[in-house]
Amino acid sequence: MAYDNGSGEFKSGGALSTQYLGLALKSPLVVGASPLTRDTSFVRRLENAGVGAIVMHSLFEEDMPREPMDAFAPPAAHDDFPEHCWTRPPQRGHAGTYLETLAYIKNIVAIPVIASLNCRTPDGWVQLARRLADQGADALELNVFLMAMDPNQTGAEMERQLLETTHRVRDAVTIPLAIKLNPYLSSLPNIVRQLEQIGINGVVLFNRFFQLGPATTIEREMFRTSSPHRADLAMRLDWLAVLSPWTRLSLAITGGVHGSTDVVRAIMAGADVAQMTTSLLENGPDYAQPVLAEIALWLQNHNIGSINELRDVANMATVAKPQETVRSEYRDAIAASAMRFTAEHRY
Ligand SMILES: Cc1cc2nc3c(=O)[nH]c(=O)nc-3n(C[C@H](O)[C@H](O)[C@H](O)COP(=O)(O)O)c2cc1C
Repeated sequence: MAYDNGSGEFKSGGALSTQYLGLALKSPLVVGASPLTRDTSFVRRLENAGVGAIVMHSLFEEDMPREPMDAFAPPAAHDDFPEHCWTRPPQRGHAGTYLETLAYIKNIVAIPVIASLNCRTPDGWVQLARRLADQGADALELNVFLMAMDPNQTGAEMERQLLETTHRVRDAVTIPLAIKLNPYLSSLPNIVRQLEQIGINGVVLFNRFFQLGPATTIEREMFRTSSPHRADLAMRLDWLAVLSPWTRLSLAITGGVHGSTDVVRAIMAGADVAQMTTSLLENGPDYAQPVLAEIALWLQNHNIGSINELRDVANMATVAKPQETVRSEYRDAIAASAMRFTAEHRY
């Protein structure tokens, strides 16, 4: 058993251990980027609950202070960090605080810590990626925010930007790199193939944008995300099933993972790990524990020795003509909902 209910602690090297971005993880449940990493006690609890890795909240280039980057050199030794040092008002700018947080978290947990970066200029991407790598991040997740708003900008231009950014960061650092993609790309498989050729290590499916819409000021002040719909998960599982048969990249899912069944379904569709955010924020960091215990129990009840045996069993690898199959499934789904609709409204 990977999970020891007696001690309440997760044992590594068990049935749930897996690989992601070339890193050995004790479980496939990864904490998605969120404010959870701003609190050290949460981070420790997440590790004790058994999560495989932690993605930190994003460092945004806009939050960088104006002074030259060298003014924000990281402190010399991790031991110098007082407990909760980053909860004090930033003395040396946000980047310094983020770097300090990263160093501190690295110091208190043994699981991999993945830093998340979101920049807007080529230099910002390169310099900050180097900073995070130097500070000991086990990997980087690039949160590339590309949203088509300008009618003069083509999809090809935007995608070229994504690839160029990735290229620059790949050349700048040697630690594993994952790209958190958005689903609004013209051909996702083609972009994933080009990213693979650049030499990144994984993709995270998908970024979910904050859907502010026409909101009042008060509404905007409430940090709103779109509510996590089941459709979020279904769409991501479909893409995992399409990509996993041929890509060598690590695959992570984020968006709509709320419980053990969602994690299992993601692995079956081809994910290496499942990231969970909203459910951990809502239920607290200890929620990871029952989720992982349920997965371990499910494996045991089905006589499956390891989570890795589940990987890819429900992807499109065995489907001879994927496009025809998807089209025919689409037609079947339309026909079924038409019948249901007719039946419900017959009187
Ligand atoms: C409060 C909150 C803060 C978030 N902050 C970040 C962030 O800093 N960087 C990032 O890439 N994603 C961020 N996300 C997105 C999550 O990492 C995740 O991709 C998204 O919430 C979908 O997963 P979920 O359905 O498990 O919540 C945030 C989400 C929430 C709810």
